[in-house]
Amino acid sequence: MKIAIAGAGYVGLVTGACLADFGHDVVCIDKDEGRIAALRRGEIPIFEPDLAGLVATNLGAGRLSFTTDLAGAVAGAEVVFIAVGTPSRRGDGHADLSYVYAVAREVALSVSGFTVVATKSTVPVGTGDEVARIIAAANPEADVAVVSNPEFLREGAAIEDFKRPDRIVVGIEDERARVVMTEVYRPLYLNQAPLVFTGRRTAEMIKYAANAFLAMKITFINEMADLCEAAGADVQQVARGMGLDNRIGSKFLHAGPGFGGSCFPKDTQALVRIGEDFGSPMRLVETTIAINEQRKRAMARRVIAACGGEVRGKVIGVLGLTFKPNTDDMREAPSIDIVRGLLDKGARVVAYDPQGMVAARELIEGLEFGESAYDVAEGADALVLVTEWNEFRSLDLARLKDAMAAPVLVDLRNVYRHDEVARHGFAYTSIGRPA
Ligand code: NAD
Ligand code: UGA
Repeated sequence: MKIAIAGAGYVGLVTGACLADFGHDVVCIDKDEGRIAALRRGEIPIFEPDLAGLVATNLGAGRLSFTTDLAGAVAGAEVVFIAVGTPSRRGDGHADLSYVYAVAREVALSVSGFTVVATKSTVPVGTGDEVARIIAAANPEADVAVVSNPEFLREGAAIEDFKRPDRIVVGIEDERARVVMTEVYRPLYLNQAPLVFTGRRTAEMIKYAANAFLAMKITFINEMADLCEAAGADVQQVARGMGLDNRIGSKFLHAGPGFGGSCFPKDTQALVRIGEDFGSPMRLVETTIAINEQRKRAMARRVIAACGGEVRGKVIGVLGLTFKPNTDDMREAPSIDIVRGLLDKGARVVAYDPQGMVAARELIEGLEFGESAYDVAEGADALVLVTEWNEFRSLDLARLKDAMAAPVLVDLRNVYRHDEVARHGFAYTSIGRPA
């Protein structure tokens, strides 16, 4: 099939590379000329495991190409995916749909023959109706079926998630789109992934419901972690004991410094606004957001407490800055609040992250950088593990302790065990686990 994808960011690029890998003929479009020029040279603008190889293979095979010419790409396509950003609108937390609508207007003028326009961007309920209206207004001759096809991939595991999804959700209002979208995803449902067809508004709602539920699940276990600390219980064992119940499930029950990233924070905000618009408040989601914001700030206080209540003039080493491992994405990363909280109290903060330091340099004024975990430990009064990159899982604790001015380890991801850290003479603080 001939497929065009507008927006060559995380989602557009992964979708393009994977669909090309399934044998489709895919062209990815972006308005960012530098990004497209780099992609044509085989350079990947984001860090995502295995993506560079997949892009190179499919570029080489002639199934994947990159352009800034949306009109040319759309003219030959049977399906056009919209995968542009929907960030929080400044000031009110609604999803900013201006990029989606701009693409819809351009697409309307270029389609030829029956075309499915599928929105992969995360958009509020009713956006598909507006996209259809925009296209009809811009080009009354256009023969288009507007579909909602939300994406559920996670950064850092994007290719695996795309190729082996738990389900594919497709919201349609025109039966012709069912045939086309079934063909797009044929290689996936042959792998047993359920293709769930719903109405368009329902598909749009599923995406926000899923993200908000996962954010609530994380926030629940984070609050349980605080209670476990106060009451002398172990949150990891509580999570295991809960998660083995199939009705609950074990995933997304890892307590930590609070959720971050390009999606949970903005999507929970947007869902609250959607609820308000419809006079149907999303109170659990509102509370989730508030708890998570407080939690990120509370993590800096936890570090200060581990340092004896004072960090002025002290050196704090930070391991991991990105919002999760295996990505270079710093958007809404908990590390931002933690580092700022420590800098505000007069600490010197030195951080190391395998992929996040370029973006962090722009985001966090006053933060210094090291070249490795051991480099950051040199002369530090405390080390704080913020992101659970694999390379932080088996650090040489004896070497770290020798390098540090004081052996204080604050492990916000519960990577280490009390006994092994204590054996090396560290004062150890983790999340929701008794000493
Ligand atoms: P992104 O910011 O990485 O990429 C968006 C791209 O769209 C940018 O490269 C931008 O230049 C391009 N763009 C903007 N306007 C354009 C236009 N008119 N024509 C062509 N290109 C244009 O965004 P992302 O992280 O890929 O997210 C895209 C959407 O997918 C969002 O709605 C997001 O909520 C959703 N989503 C993201 C993820 C994720 O893990 N990042 C997962 C699921 C869903
Ligand atoms: C999330 C969803 O998992 C995807 O299904 C969805 O497609 C995507 O948002 C989106 O809409 O963009 P992502 O943000 O890439 O994916 O990463 P997650 O693995 O969900 O992690 C999000 C945050 O929650 C991270 O800060 C992570 O550290 C935190 N988290 C996650 C926990 O603190 N505990 C957990 O048990 C799981």
